[in-house]
Amino acid sequence: MKGFSKLSKKAKMEWLASQHFKNPTKAIEILESYWHPEAKVQKLHDDFIENTITNYFLPFGIAPNFLINGKIYTLPMAIEESSVVAAASKAASFWGTRGGFKTRVISTRKIGHVHFIYQGNADWLRNLIESSQNKFLEDCGAITANMRNRGGGIVSIELVDRSDAEPNYYQIQVKFETCDSMGANFINSCLEQIAKTLQSLIEENTVKEGNSNDFQIVMCILSNYTPECIVRAEVSCPIEDLQDGSDISPEEFIEKFQRAIRIAHIETYRATTHNKGIFNGIDAVVIATGNDFRAVEAAGHTYAARKGSYQSLTDCAVKDGVFHFWIELPLALGTVGGLTSLHPLVKLAHEMLGNPNAEELMMIVACSGLAQNFGALRALVTTGIQKGHMKMHLFNILNQLEATDKEKEIMIGFFSDKVVAHNEVIRKFCEIRGVSYESFVGRSK
Ligand code: MEV
Repeated sequence: MKGFSKLSKKAKMEWLASQHFKNPTKAIEILESYWHPEAKVQKLHDDFIENTITNYFLPFGIAPNFLINGKIYTLPMAIEESSVVAAASKAASFWGTRGGFKTRVISTRKIGHVHFIYQGNADWLRNLIESSQNKFLEDCGAITANMRNRGGGIVSIELVDRSDAEPNYYQIQVKFETCDSMGANFINSCLEQIAKTLQSLIEENTVKEGNSNDFQIVMCILSNYTPECIVRAEVSCPIEDLQDGSDISPEEFIEKFQRAIRIAHIETYRATTHNKGIFNGIDAVVIATGNDFRAVEAAGHTYAARKGSYQSLTDCAVKDGVFHFWIELPLALGTVGGLTSLHPLVKLAHEMLGNPNAEELMMIVACSGLAQNFGALRALVTTGIQKGHMKMHLFNILNQLEATDKEKEIMIGFFSDKVVAHNEVIRKFCEIRGVSYESFVGRSK
């Protein structure tokens, strides 16, 4: 298919429907049913990406009662997975009565690189870059003007010699302060300018000093690994305050909890699932607030592997009779620019949080991840995870079956003390509806 991007939205949908669906009319009907009723809002969504034909809805839930640094927040969470919002809310209520979350931003630097090949004298190159700092900054002046007014900009520019790993491979590593923006465009623009300046400096000096000019820019790009953009969140309480009315004693709970964390430090298979649960909480708030969850995930997972093996992002300890549970991770987030000023729901999510700046949002998001991990571990080492999950699983099956409210009520009562197996749910549903199981299953195949 040539020239697809030039077609109108209607023509794109018609092409798609005729090529890929048994019932093109029905397919178009479904796609159109997800359009926003207000043409202006739909146009906004159309323009976010290329070849938009419709919108993809994610549930947008809220988790109230997050006490963070003494302030109560209601967290916006965009996520398709059942139980995540419920777990976040439950953990928030639990810790809300035990002092809440204490969190701080450790650093906010972002990093980018001009990757290049250089075959000349390394000392000469180092001197050139060190003595040309002002030139680099001046040449980037127009790009950085706004950011400098806001208190940010380029923090450092230095040469990194990686020729040990790849022949003649060097980087200019640039560190940035991007204030309340995530800063991807800003960083990449600076890097491309720095590469141009480097190129001209090398050419000039080569002519003047007769050095080798075997020089080639490979690429200029920010790094999504942001080990200098770190936030820490913690909850803590005296051991006895962990008693929550369940059979298990606080001491036994702590022993099991600590063991689960140790396992997530030493066993990669478990660490991956453990951290996945953390990102259930993190991504949901990151998406709701219009940030780039792929970047956040990539940085988080790299950070989790920084010690040479992939490990838990959370940790816990008991000190002087107090249980501490914390998370530390990189979170490069923005509260201005990108979707934050364009998407109506994203704007609402920011308002719901009191229009935080980037650092405050980092702290909120870290708490969401910590809460999620607490909820998951607490369930895993006590009742098991399926108890909570199965209730939502049952709701989902009942919705798929288009059960009425009355049927749902009977089914939920019936399965309150039973394992929710898909087949058993269908069987019971057929019994209530008074239809034969065999014919119902046959029909839905
Ligand atoms: C499910 O999405 C997340 C959990 O598997 C996390 C974990 O095991 O820690 C429950």
